[in-house]
Amino acid sequence: MQITTGFRRLLSHPRLYDAFQDLMGARSIRRDLVTRYLRPAAGHRMLDIGCGTARILDFLPDIDYHGFDPSPPYIAEARRRYPAQGRFSCAMVEQATLADIEQFDLVLAFGVLHHLDDAQAHQLMQLAYTALKPGGRLITIDPCYAHGQHPVARYLIRRDRGQNVRTSAAYQSIANSVFRQQRGELKHRRWIPYTHWMMECQR
Ligand SMILES: C[S@@+](CC[C@H](N)C(=O)[O-])C[C@H]1O[C@@H](n2cnc3c(N)ncnc32)[C@H](O)[C@@H]1O
Repeated sequence: MQITTGFRRLLSHPRLYDAFQDLMGARSIRRDLVTRYLRPAAGHRMLDIGCGTARILDFLPDIDYHGFDPSPPYIAEARRRYPAQGRFSCAMVEQATLADIEQFDLVLAFGVLHHLDDAQAHQLMQLAYTALKPGGRLITIDPCYAHGQHPVARYLIRRDRGQNVRTSAAYQSIANSVFRQQRGELKHRRWIPYTHWMMECQR
């Protein structure tokens, strides 16, 4: 569920979405996520759920990448920008099937859980678990409500398109329903104040 009226409607445009993300410091967040959480090895297979325009590929040169997203304009932009770097498809997590997909070393859901209600978020966890090889990892990152967070962060997060921003405990409880092993980290950004919850779940 996402709001697509007013200013937030502009974000349905892939290039405006990318420009807005860059303004919010998304490049350094993606770099940090790849270095500290994804830690990919050459040839690793990765599934990117809700891949958007797949800009994570700027930081993943040697990976076997499959991304899906329900937005046709985002997927068209991903195909235009990365014609030889990945496979892309249009789908929602609720409809995704893995019948034709081999198992993955990594699953990423970057900024997706906060668009999903609890039932859909649980489906994402189950899909990720099924898609992962034993020992493989799911990495998620989402805006988060937290005690003591900067008022500007709280203001911006309240106005996100996603209507299911949660506390770290609520994100963890969704992961716990499927994954036994998980760890997380609350990150307070300074450039434009914002709060993220990053989570790593191992199959
Ligand atoms: C904040 S954007 C993040 C996009 C991308 N992961 C990135 O890092 O730029 C959230 C994405 O989740 C996708 N999304 C929303 N609902 C979804 C669903 N039910 N299943 C899969 N993806 C969904 C949206 O289309 C959007 O591209």
